Amino acid sequence: MNYSLQMHNEQLGLADDDHPHIAPVVIDFLSGKTAYRRKYGHVGGEAISKAVGIKKGHRPNIVDATAGLGRDAFVLTTLGCRVHMIERSKVIAELLEDGLRRACQDEKIGEMIKNRLSLTCGESQKELLQTPFEPEVIYLDPMFPQKEKSALVKKDMRMLQEVVGPDEDADALLRLALTIATNRIVVKRPAYANFLAEIKPTTSIKTKNHRFDIYLTPRH
Ligand SMILES: C[S@@+](CC[C@H](N)C(=O)[O-])C[C@H]1O[C@@H](n2cnc3c(N)ncnc32)[C@H](O)[C@@H]1O
Repeated sequence: MNYSLQMHNEQLGLADDDHPHIAPVVIDFLSGKTAYRRKYGHVGGEAISKAVGIKKGHRPNIVDATAGLGRDAFVLTTLGCRVHMIERSKVIAELLEDGLRRACQDEKIGEMIKNRLSLTCGESQKELLQTPFEPEVIYLDPMFPQKEKSALVKKDMRMLQEVVGPDEDADALLRLALTIATNRIVVKRPAYANFLAEIKPTTSIKTKNHRFDIYLTPRH
């Protein structure tokens, strides 16, 4: 597997050099499925909204400590939360940075993005100790080995998996997050997966393919 970052039409993309016919992965908050969700009332966003504790008149401050392609962070931002993303892969962080740059220039959502969505490239076990605001919620979506045959896994997720590899410190990250979040930690897992660090959550919210495990913290 060989990947490279390439600039096309002022968009940074991650290209699969072994399969040049496949379009590069680009982080685009302005079009595609992510933008559709924003425009048409957050299709599929209800579970994540409940999981992080969004209520009438309350939008928690969230640190997404496993930012990846920024999709969940963007949904949470458009739901009204202030979200700080942390991503340790330099390549993925560059894609995020580029997606953020373009989103900030957009007439419709630029101001919202500037005010509510930020990014640090680094290790979350270090960066969680110096976040720009005290996180009420820490959101974790570590890489989980896919059950499906690789051809069935979506292109973006397959590339992400190959570029960043397994998140072997995910259990330790949850243990640290439990000492920092003032309200809760939300862990996104495939529906069939065991609990992270084998720690039983306070409660879970299930969707067709996923589960959000919610750990209310003692400071809650
Ligand atoms: C499954 S992806 C997250 C996908 C993301 N929720 C989305 O909506 O696009 C996991 C990402 O978390 C990052 N990650 C995992 N553990 C990390 C850590 N300890 N510090 C920083 N980044 C981490 C990985 O590099 C990977 O890009």
